[in-house]
Amino acid sequence: MVPLIKEILAAPPDRREVLVRGWVRTRRDMKNLVFVEIHDGSCFNGLQCACDGIPVPPGLTTGASVEIRGTLVPSPAQGQAVEIAAASITLIGEAPGEEKNGIPPYPLQKKRHTLEFLRETPHLRGRTNTIGAVTRVRGRLAFAVHRFFQDRGYHYLHTPVITGSDAEGAGAMFRVTTLDPAAPARPQGPAAKPDYREDFFGRESFLTVSGQLEAEAYAMALSRVYTFGPTFRAENSNTARHLAEFWMIEPETAFFHLADNMDLAEDFLKYCLKTILEECPGDLDFFDQRYQKGLTGGLRAAAEAAFTRLTYTEAMGELEKAAAARPGRFEFAPAWGRDLQSEHETFLTEELVRGPVIVTDYPKEIKAFYMKLNGDGKTVRAMDVLVPRLGEIIGGSEREENLAALEHRMAELGMDPDRYGWYLDLRRYGTAPHAGFGLGFERLVQYVTGMANIRDVIPYPRAAGRLY
Ligand code: 4AD
Ligand code: MG
Repeated sequence: MVPLIKEILAAPPDRREVLVRGWVRTRRDMKNLVFVEIHDGSCFNGLQCACDGIPVPPGLTTGASVEIRGTLVPSPAQGQAVEIAAASITLIGEAPGEEKNGIPPYPLQKKRHTLEFLRETPHLRGRTNTIGAVTRVRGRLAFAVHRFFQDRGYHYLHTPVITGSDAEGAGAMFRVTTLDPAAPARPQGPAAKPDYREDFFGRESFLTVSGQLEAEAYAMALSRVYTFGPTFRAENSNTARHLAEFWMIEPETAFFHLADNMDLAEDFLKYCLKTILEECPGDLDFFDQRYQKGLTGGLRAAAEAAFTRLTYTEAMGELEKAAAARPGRFEFAPAWGRDLQSEHETFLTEELVRGPVIVTDYPKEIKAFYMKLNGDGKTVRAMDVLVPRLGEIIGGSEREENLAALEHRMAELGMDPDRYGWYLDLRRYGTAPHAGFGLGFERLVQYVTGMANIRDVIPYPRAAGRLY
């Protein structure tokens, strides 16, 4: 195979003959010398090719695809050990720099483009330094996720994308239907709900918000499982940390209690951070310089120190103290029973602790139906991992494994037990304590890269009002 640029850059300048393929990032014309910088996405840096006295095709400008033959020589330029002394250079395909038949030239020119502009060309933005680096880090992280769980005896489980159950009870689901929206069957008249018995599955169906419930079923069979797949939420939240389609990693472990679950989450996050610090130093340096000063130091510190653990009640106490010390500092007044707002998460992670925080034992009213009730009857064994810059990155809990307690909670919430018959079966037949959590993969990529907007850490972001 033709070597990748990352391999060429690591080779000694021993005048070996090389063939390089990639895309022109810049071209500089001197007298009879032309310097062309080629990228192939294999690493952050490009490869400089010096074309001395050889013909260079005129259309060979930014964005062009090229094939270069030459020899690997020491580079006199700063910041690179080797370059190519080109013997021949060939333009592949059309010259991208010219307007033709009203089709504009290649939109990504040498200058720096805003991230907003790049989002409008998702098919081309992978060729920029920023999105290229994000994409490499994302791929390494995904591999690290599998390695972490596989090394610990977890089985990778594929949970369904189309589902009939609402795992989070949050009610923000995308409907899956083959009914004609213009003329769905409405036997009770035009104002009635469509008759979903006529629908593809003979009942209502949705895109999954989480694979947790199915993972619980398999944890009760294989002891340790994890999912890593796409999840969907029709939340209309246009924020820098919400997507309508995102990837989630959900481990579920039999015989685990909340403290075991917290240990697993902490080990897992630290493992991901260490992997990227080790494997992607070039990309991280770039993010550190360009997007988030001190990024690498912060990640290294988080990977080393123990995460602070606070109960929700303790966290609320700290927030109330901070609010009393400086009235008006929070837009939303903290009070026991209310959910943590992002400004509260920022206070906890960036001021109080200055690092990741695990908050546990939330009031049952603000958490999902499946969480195990504590002895106080008021709080559940929930755990959220909060990190600086982002807030919540992981949400999880010990599950209610007691049949009567779960049925009681579902009745309180007005849930239809018939729709969760199989889930209740798990408590009828061989129930056991178990716990798990969900890590939003894009939030992890944001945390590691320092990217402010979640739309810049997934190749094709889907968010309310935007199908890029
Ligand atoms: O806290 P959540 O809603 O928890 C669950 O879905 C549980 N079933 C997980 C479990 O216990 N197995 O979501 C988990 C994580 C959040 O902490 C967040 O990182 C991410 O998923 N997340 C989102 N990421 C991007 N866009 C969204 N709209 C997200 N909603 C949640
Ligand atoms: Mg959550």
